[in-house]
Amino acid sequence: MKILVTGGAGFIGSALVRHIIEKTSHQAVNVDALTYAGNPESLGQARDHPRHVFEQVDIRDRQALDRVFREHRPDAVMHLAAESHVDRSIAGPSVFVQTNVTGTQNLLEAARVYWSELDAHARRAFRFHHVSTDEVFGDLGPEDPAFTEKTPYAPSSPYAASKAASDHLVRAWHRTYGLPILITNCSNNYGPYQFPEKLIPLMILNALEGKPLPVYGRGENVRDWLYVEDHARALRLVLEKGLPGRTYNIGGRCEKTNMEVVTAICDILDELRPVTSDESQVTKDGDGLQVTSDTSRVTRHSSLISFVPDRPGHDRRYAIDDARISRELGWRPQESFDSGLRKTIKWYLDNTEWVDRVRTGEYREWIETNYGQRGAVSTL
Ligand code: NAD
Ligand code: TYD
Repeated sequence: MKILVTGGAGFIGSALVRHIIEKTSHQAVNVDALTYAGNPESLGQARDHPRHVFEQVDIRDRQALDRVFREHRPDAVMHLAAESHVDRSIAGPSVFVQTNVTGTQNLLEAARVYWSELDAHARRAFRFHHVSTDEVFGDLGPEDPAFTEKTPYAPSSPYAASKAASDHLVRAWHRTYGLPILITNCSNNYGPYQFPEKLIPLMILNALEGKPLPVYGRGENVRDWLYVEDHARALRLVLEKGLPGRTYNIGGRCEKTNMEVVTAICDILDELRPVTSDESQVTKDGDGLQVTSDTSRVTRHSSLISFVPDRPGHDRRYAIDDARISRELGWRPQESFDSGLRKTIKWYLDNTEWVDRVRTGEYREWIETNYGQRGAVSTL
């Protein structure tokens, strides 16, 4: 198959392209505008592979999309390009509507026009796979059952609302025009190459630099965490085996409060990068004389945890019921949270050049916008 992947220079898209190149014989046409979140270096060795082609194209540009379909003639689309950060959507929602809603509609139309001119066999085999989030379902109380594919949509943030709108458009293009679509709604991903404004990489890098670890509210909000390579495997399986028109929920069977996540990061860093501070201790001997001795004191990374004002509209809990994808397609996550988090932390320790390059002036401006006025409420 030749697969047109949008957003293939982002966190999940690059993991998907690496998976396609390393684990399959498919070709990948990578369509990405290279916003602040996109970085071709995240593609690793897949970047220069003969089965990978990169097109710097914005999905808001319909003409450019038509050209890409005409020139590359894909057998399938996997649509990941999006504005993806909830806090940014609160600070500036417009671009979320432009990219996630209008951009998706452009891509659907470009795909539909191209698909409608294919021969009958190619039309049947074509797939438009839309990659979405569990945030479209809103939030859960502590005892509520997990999200299923039948849970009604109730998005809370501008990001979640824009993704919900895009899911509705994709379903409408199936129902109205017969476009053979697939939708997946996945929980929070973590792993290598995640842009360091999201919880896990932000906390790893702040802790390494001895900066405060800004936990929103009391850190009691719950997320379900999935290692990004498990997500890439699920996406490939859904594309190859999923039923057109169907939705699949994907999750990590791994619910954690934010405090559990942050303390797990701190504990692993205490082990891998212990911080000691040399201190002179002054004591008195039996005769009342002062004795000075140098000792090393271990400082725990968790002492950096700092509670800051909460995110407006902060969803309390997400949880995924993965019965459908597990029963129908035989998928289940392979990575445990402990093993996945260790791999992730080691990756950030070993890839400081990638980190330095993505933390540009634009990144620093965002950190100032989001955390500047928040200030710390309290520490542990
Ligand atoms: P990301 O922000 O890391 O990457 C997004 C990519 O899209 C970037 O490479 C960016 O350059 C590109 N992009 C943005 N606007 C574009 C435009 N107008 N035209 C073309 N390219 C554009 O995001 P991610 O975390 O990799 O998420 C990818 C997809 O998966 C998104 O659709 C997101 O909603 C969904 N998702 C993410 C998570 C998660 O935990 N990160 C969970 C479930 C679903
Ligand atoms: P995030 O990585 O932004 O993902 P999402 O909001 O899409 O779930 O945040 C994950 C959780 O971590 C969420 O409950 C908000 C919280 N959070 C903090 O407590 N502090 C932070 O600095 C960030 C970025 C997130």
